[in-house]
Amino acid sequence: MSLEKKLREIEEKRAEARLGGGQKRIDAQHAKGKLTARERLELLLDRGSFEEFDMFVSHRSSDFGLDKKKFLGDGVVTGVGAIDGRQVFVFSQDFTVFGGSLSEAHAEKICKIMDMAMKVGAPVIGLNDSGGARIQEGVVSLGGYADIFLRNTLASGVVPQISVILGPCAGGAVYSPAITDFTIMVKGISHMFVTGPNVVKTVTHEDVSSEELGGAMTHATKSGVAHYAAENEPDAIRFTRELLSYIPLNNMQDPPNVPTDDPDDREEESLNSIVPLNPNKPYDMKDVITRVVDDGRFLEVHPDFAMNIIVGFARLGGQSIGIIANQPAVLAGVLDINSSAKAARFIRFCDSFNIPIITFEDVPGFLPGTDQEHNGIIKHGAMLLYAYCEATVPKITVITRKAYGGAYDVMNSKHVRGDMNYAWPTAEIAVMGPKGAVEIIFKKEIAAAKDKQKAIDERVAEFTEKFANPYIAAERGYIDDIIEPKRTRTRLISALRMLENKKDSNPPKKHGNIPL
Ligand code: HXC
Repeated sequence: MSLEKKLREIEEKRAEARLGGGQKRIDAQHAKGKLTARERLELLLDRGSFEEFDMFVSHRSSDFGLDKKKFLGDGVVTGVGAIDGRQVFVFSQDFTVFGGSLSEAHAEKICKIMDMAMKVGAPVIGLNDSGGARIQEGVVSLGGYADIFLRNTLASGVVPQISVILGPCAGGAVYSPAITDFTIMVKGISHMFVTGPNVVKTVTHEDVSSEELGGAMTHATKSGVAHYAAENEPDAIRFTRELLSYIPLNNMQDPPNVPTDDPDDREEESLNSIVPLNPNKPYDMKDVITRVVDDGRFLEVHPDFAMNIIVGFARLGGQSIGIIANQPAVLAGVLDINSSAKAARFIRFCDSFNIPIITFEDVPGFLPGTDQEHNGIIKHGAMLLYAYCEATVPKITVITRKAYGGAYDVMNSKHVRGDMNYAWPTAEIAVMGPKGAVEIIFKKEIAAAKDKQKAIDERVAEFTEKFANPYIAAERGYIDDIIEPKRTRTRLISALRMLENKKDSNPPKKHGNIPL
């Protein structure tokens, strides 16, 4: 056969592979409002950058007539491409082939790009759209999942891993995205659950829809499994691309620096009056963040979950930073189970990938109550504390208002290796708020007073004057400086520059035992 003919033959095979499960199934995919595996990769990757691997792989099963049903590629498109010119490895499950279900061959293709990503130090992005284990292959398919889970775990903290869920993701299949660093879902088309609505009905007699059980908003607001609930597929892809722009390609690199026209010494006058005079009045910490960071650009992660804490990425003087901030506008910024777990995981991601951590603090303490105690606020709070303690990246804190009780210690205090700790003049650093403190330490005096309210008010005023300020902490050196709010940006940028070559480490160990 001439080379020309051979080349034509290859092209024909490629065309066949590109059609996946065939035009009819592609049309069905589109009719559901979903893009195909290849259309998704076109959106995700820089134009023309995709190089596909294993296009001619097909399954090796013969049971249940599968030997007569073979599709080139076997339900997953894998390879390497670029996002903003930076290398990434990708897989995109093709629902048109056996519902994107995972066979032995399908799993091998995913493992191959994961192994390659680890060798060369590049992120792995998985676009998931799958009916789960290929039922006809039985345990071989389960083995394939386990091979992926192991690689997810070994790659954790070495290369960033992002999962985008663009269809069903059920059964044990959910555990791969759950191990990865970020999970992005799309409203209306993504579903994640360990057991679907039918099994739920049989076992617990609950009637629940797929959307309610495991839709994007369920996981973005209730379980916290999803870090972002996108409006549609292009929005999910946009978020993924932007997320990657803040992150290095592997744990040995620093995140990319993105020059900005926003001056390092920009003063933001409005910050001087952003904290209300009344300490019980809320304000939006996101207004503080966006006024400080480069070009007001803040990519919030987990925006709909545990909204009493804010986490996300931004840049200061071009340098990527991770921000953790109490949100006084939600539950007064209190720390509870969900906010502790949310922040702990984010801190560990930043620390794994050399991203400095900036903490904006206004926290009245931990949330009291039986619900919190019985569900483990102790271990979840400990998780956050542990995450801050073990992090060795540059760590800077700005206390804008309250820093009370254990929460003062936890939120990157000097004592847990905060490198630079700043307070605004409005900061109140104490064991607890003035009213609570007075009611405990002057309990007998107040009980004996003729005018109880007057006694409380006097003592509260005295306590406020003495403790509800940053000076006692500053006298001890627990606060490095009290800064004018409008100069926060400048001070943070110079602190980051000072810490650029920071080296710190933890004692040698196999790994710690973070409270889970
Ligand atoms: C083989 C599958 C499949 C599977 C779907 N298909 N799931 N083939 N193994 N797991 C095939 C269908 O036969 C059909 O083939 C095509 O994919 C499209 O499926 P439909 O049912 O027509 O699509 P839809 O109505 O959109 O429903 C999608 C679905 C449903 C919700 C995903 O197919 C479904 O419930 N599938 C089974 C899900 C499941 O129980 N998986 C196992 C979970 S346990 P044709 O030829 O008609 O196009 C698991 C264990 C993992 O995954 C353990 C890891 C530890």
